[in-house]
Amino acid sequence: ASLAELDTSIPGPNRRQDRTVPAPPHPGTGFTNTADTDPSLPANRSWGRAILDRVPSSQLGKDLVAATTLTRAGELEDTIAGAVSASAAWGSLSGAERAVILHRAGDALEARRAELMEVMAAETGKTLDQADPEISEAVDFAHYYAERARELDDVDGAVFSPVRLTVVTPPWNFPVAIPAGSTLAALAAGSSVIIKPASQARRSGSVMIDALWAAGVPREVLRLVQVDERDLGRQLIADPRVDRVILTGGYETAELFRSFRTDLPLLAETSGKNAIIVTPSADLDLAARDVAQSAFGHAGQKCSAASLVILVGSAATSQRFRNQLLDAVASLSVGYPEDPTTQMGPVIEPAAGKLLDGLTTLGDGESWLVEPRRLDDSGRLWSPGIRVGVKRGATYHLTEYFGPILGVMTAATLEEAIALQNDIDYGLTSGIHSLDSREIATWIDGVQAGNLYINRGITGAIVQRQPFGGWKKSAVGAGTKAGGPNYLVGLGTWSPREATA
Ligand code: ALA
Repeated sequence: ASLAELDTSIPGPNRRQDRTVPAPPHPGTGFTNTADTDPSLPANRSWGRAILDRVPSSQLGKDLVAATTLTRAGELEDTIAGAVSASAAWGSLSGAERAVILHRAGDALEARRAELMEVMAAETGKTLDQADPEISEAVDFAHYYAERARELDDVDGAVFSPVRLTVVTPPWNFPVAIPAGSTLAALAAGSSVIIKPASQARRSGSVMIDALWAAGVPREVLRLVQVDERDLGRQLIADPRVDRVILTGGYETAELFRSFRTDLPLLAETSGKNAIIVTPSADLDLAARDVAQSAFGHAGQKCSAASLVILVGSAATSQRFRNQLLDAVASLSVGYPEDPTTQMGPVIEPAAGKLLDGLTTLGDGESWLVEPRRLDDSGRLWSPGIRVGVKRGATYHLTEYFGPILGVMTAATLEEAIALQNDIDYGLTSGIHSLDSREIATWIDGVQAGNLYINRGITGAIVQRQPFGGWKKSAVGAGTKAGGPNYLVGLGTWSPREATA
């Protein structure tokens, strides 16, 4: 069956089915996380296969991208002027009024789950098991920020005034959830939005935005542009009418944006070089599983991915950990997403530059525990690699690679392991596997990262449960955490109620 023949309305016999009974709302927040698709149900597996049937391999990363038209210079000026003028009406709605539209946007994204997953797979090579929770996250952002918008109405003695124009520049690696989250936050706060999807994921961004328009977000308020960062993108970022730029991307992109305009009001979540520390007290089987998932999920192309595992004391010589990790990696099936057995997909572009170096060259004293192999001529499909013997201060220790490579470091003590993580300029995610509460407390006090995970993988932050944001060079500008209670506040200003009466 092709997806076109299936009934994708909710609920319906061929629609994905949740076995999970939704949890009650989190106390006091009016919000419930939506459920991911349960792949153990046969109906859901057929649903997933129908999505993949629509992703011919010839399309991967090619035709869809070529199909978008770029915004022209004259249009950009009209877009900026129009968005600024539309912000007056949108910003004067109450938070509760905007919340109604945002909740509809969440429902619209849910209704287009299959289509969004299909486009992500075709355009960026994302596998269904990664794409499905990404749609859940986008849906969660809509409902969560809707409820936070309502709260802006009821602060005693103070009035919230949103900024007028927010520019959103998301990355390609989460081509739906991240643009959706940033856009919905700005809309919830009462700002107009101009969004520029990543050039590798233009179609995913535009289908997502289409869902928001269809849900009732005015086209005057939410505008899509397709431009290159260095020409019209530069003009857009540098425009003084832009009040906020929400960037998720590399640290270098944040620097580039700042070179366009020195007083740029940036809310940026940038690069990461993240480690999981495993102590001798850990459940080593669980640790090995979480390390493998965090390192190789989406072929390591997450800012949150584990790029290092730091083994403390006797964990470094544990045959059990080593064998479990080798098993977890050996059993990963690598391929393109249209093959339903694929667990690790391709990298977004043929490996080149830094990533190719990371996949093919070793530093002093390093060796491959598992050597990455190029699996076809595309340059995009690589088997996972694990390098051991990474020394303190080595290039691999300190550099972000954004691909399917894991480095193993060792430390005599937990304190030394924490110091190895803190040597790194970035501080996005970090994890510890330990069953000793004193070790966990020491690590929490000492480690410099925005998102700390205990006895869990370090990717896949859940809206509200794990508000997401970085520290050190993983954040640039005034950042509060996405999917957390304070994010909207950065998109406006408060003034005493009397002053505006
Ligand atoms: N928010 C994404 C994650 O947690 C980057 O993996």
